[in-house]
Amino acid sequence: MPANPDAAAVLDALDEPAFLLDRGGVVRHANPAAAQFLRRPLATLNGQPLAALVASPADRLAPFLDLCARSSQSMVGGLVVTDQEGRSLSCPARGCRIALAGGAFTLLRLQVGEAKRFRALTDKTISLNAELTENKRIRRDLKLALEEKEVLLREVNHRVKNNLQMLQGVLSLTERATADERSREAVRSVRLRVEAMGLVQRLLYQKDDVSGIDGAAFIRLLVDNCVSAFGRSDIAVTTTCEPVEVRSDTAFLLGLAANELITNALKYAFTDRPAGALAVDLTPHGQRAGVIRLVVADDGVGMAADAPPGTGLALVRHLVRRPGGSFSVESSRGTRCIVEFPI
Ligand SMILES: Nc1ncnc2c1ncn2[C@@H]1O[C@H](COP(=O)(O)OP(=O)(O)OP(=O)(O)O)[C@@H](O)[C@H]1O
Ligand SMILES: [Mg+2]
Repeated sequence: MPANPDAAAVLDALDEPAFLLDRGGVVRHANPAAAQFLRRPLATLNGQPLAALVASPADRLAPFLDLCARSSQSMVGGLVVTDQEGRSLSCPARGCRIALAGGAFTLLRLQVGEAKRFRALTDKTISLNAELTENKRIRRDLKLALEEKEVLLREVNHRVKNNLQMLQGVLSLTERATADERSREAVRSVRLRVEAMGLVQRLLYQKDDVSGIDGAAFIRLLVDNCVSAFGRSDIAVTTTCEPVEVRSDTAFLLGLAANELITNALKYAFTDRPAGALAVDLTPHGQRAGVIRLVVADDGVGMAADAPPGTGLALVRHLVRRPGGSFSVESSRGTRCIVEFPI
């Protein structure tokens, strides 16, 4: 059954691909836009079942065409066609029954612009999906690398801790075996310096997170260690520490500085006195924001203006300089040493 010529002329004037189909789904008229869209000569389309021209699954095409053939309202569905690259392209379609002089036909129009937009969206979704999968893989790899790094770091800390412990043992033995008082004192001061570092290492190793330690707990242990090394139970020691997380690199500097100042107080402040008081304070955000402040104060003899220069105070000055900290000494009633480190 040939299509009505007037209706065919109207279809030919349309920009969108359009077909007139008979009740059996056979193309009775296809417009030039349809031929171009399907990339077939126009003359070969008429008389072909639509099912042979498109890639829609038969179980979806037949019900849609049937629906369109029975409705005078536009029915919305889709056709699957194969594009130039051989990819399937889903194209929205609208169809309805139209009564023409030659009989009833189905007018089917394809919305190609929609299909292109849909294709662009699909392509974008596919590429986003690929990116997402790649990101997930990178995240998983990074997580594994991080876990591996943490295990290695823990292992390194463990070894450093053990080596420092061994060194402390050797120095302890040497100290006990040294008869000369001055030499013994020299060995003890080296031992205490090593122990200050060993303490940081021990605290770092005890924690799961090796980036820092609890500064308050650290200073308390350090004070106990120094006091017991000098055996000065006659000195009243107060340790006031506010909880503060100290980065591991700062903790080493803080520990070495605190050790020197506490050692000095125990060594020199109470030489001619049976008793005295030593106060060690650690305050986060001392006088300036973003710093920790350590104050080691004794009520002893005070630091003489012409005190002989030694390694301890020089070391403290050196330690604070590196991270941009400060060190000051006040000596009116006893000695008060103040160290500030940026955290
Ligand atoms: N709290 C203090 N009270 C009294 N004098 C002090 C105090 N701290 C330091 N001094 C004096 O300052 C001097 C220099 O101290 P410093 O720590 O630099 O060297 P040292 O203790 O003599 O030697 P090292 O620290 O190498 O064992 C000391 O010899 C001491 O006379
Ligand atoms: Mg000293």
